[in-house]
Amino acid sequence: MPGIDSRANGEIPQDLPARYGGRFFTEGVPTHRFPESGMPAIDAYQLLEEEMALDGDPARNLATFVTTWMELPARQVVMENLHRNYIDHAEYPRTAEIEQRCIRMLADLYHAPGETTGCRTQGSSEAVMLGALAAKWRWKKQREAAGKDTSKPNLVFGNDVHVVWQKFCRYFDVEPREIPLQEDKYVIDAGDVEPRIDENTIGVVAVLGTTFTGHAGDIAGIDKLLGDLRAKGQDVPLHIDAASGGFVWPFLHPDDAWDFRLDSVRSINVSGHKFGMVYPGIGWLIFRSKDDLPEELVFYENYLGETDATFTLNFSTGAAVMLAQYYMFCRLGFAGYQAVMEGMQRNSQYLAEQLVSSGRFQLITAKSPQLPLVAFQLTGDPPYDEFDVSGQLAAERGWMVPAYTMPPNAQDVTIMRALVKENVGHAGARTLVDDIEHACQILDKRGESLPDHARRRVQRGPGY
Ligand SMILES: Cc1ncc(COP(=O)(O)O)c(C=O)c1O
Repeated sequence: MPGIDSRANGEIPQDLPARYGGRFFTEGVPTHRFPESGMPAIDAYQLLEEEMALDGDPARNLATFVTTWMELPARQVVMENLHRNYIDHAEYPRTAEIEQRCIRMLADLYHAPGETTGCRTQGSSEAVMLGALAAKWRWKKQREAAGKDTSKPNLVFGNDVHVVWQKFCRYFDVEPREIPLQEDKYVIDAGDVEPRIDENTIGVVAVLGTTFTGHAGDIAGIDKLLGDLRAKGQDVPLHIDAASGGFVWPFLHPDDAWDFRLDSVRSINVSGHKFGMVYPGIGWLIFRSKDDLPEELVFYENYLGETDATFTLNFSTGAAVMLAQYYMFCRLGFAGYQAVMEGMQRNSQYLAEQLVSSGRFQLITAKSPQLPLVAFQLTGDPPYDEFDVSGQLAAERGWMVPAYTMPPNAQDVTIMRALVKENVGHAGARTLVDDIEHACQILDKRGESLPDHARRRVQRGPGY
């Protein structure tokens, strides 16, 4: 047979890939040039399968807020609707109707006082851009009507925000008025906000469940400040970035008023793909009332014979995850989301207790409640730091638990953070504690041989 003899010489037989495995068993994969011709489906599939096997395992990714597990029928909804373009409202009127149902349900959950409006977005980032644009537009219209200058808009927020807020300011020409954090104070309050507001302030942003520690700013206090200003004639709206908290607080802390129950709150963004429990690609922006969305930002397009009103940065995008969001709302209802959130909270408390009782860690605590996560740091003076623990844990067991430094002016504080979602059950939390302990024991031994902390540090972001 051809090839058999050559194997005896240590060469790979020419037709081996055709007989065993895929063609990339022995060939490089397309990386730079557009492939001249195609390949059998099984080769293309195997190529992707092998690449993905080299990625991190989403089930052990405790850095991300984003959903990494959905139940089978929900996955079926996603699979069965991957070919449906969300924007084709004329062709897919039920898809458009389902978007509106979700918006109305969220407005209800967030206690909107009357009829309102909103939109489906790609995630919280698009929702933030659109919500902040609406605020900028409202401010500009008021200033123009009063014959005042509109060239210097500013936005007030803390350094506890996600990077998307800085991005908005740069992309849309707005001055960011950032409030520095402090060691032991990782969220903002009214006292921080007040001195930064002036006549050019388009709005204030407060976060419900920060990316860094999972706590909330003093939203009620900031609302009171803005209410006092309104009584004096200055209307400064409050936007709540509830990317994560918007699906946690209503179920775990229903009496905590952070939403449209507060008069200054004019818009809220939330990520359906975080604690909304849907795979990536879905976020929501909800306005307090229809008047909060300036008419000039709505585009009426005559598309394929129908007039469509859109408020979005994209045109075509998939409808599947939006439909999956509706599935989740119907499947779980309020009681179901509450039960799941309580389960996550219990598991995160268990993880927190176990880490503290190991004697190696302390928790990052604050007055406000927290997302289902554990933010922690080393205690004592071990010969290694949180970056080492994170790196050792990833190397040994594949857990992705990030270590990062806090934003200015708390940049000297290093913490680790583990999200505790559906993919971390009680047994998973137990295994993680054991694996962290094992990683620390290895580092304890290695630390003796490396007293100068000479290990290479891997700096990572907080994970989103
Ligand atoms: C508070 C906050 N805002 C905004 C975002 C951006 O959200 P998305 O990833 O849905 O665009 C995140 C992501 O983690 C976040 O935590």
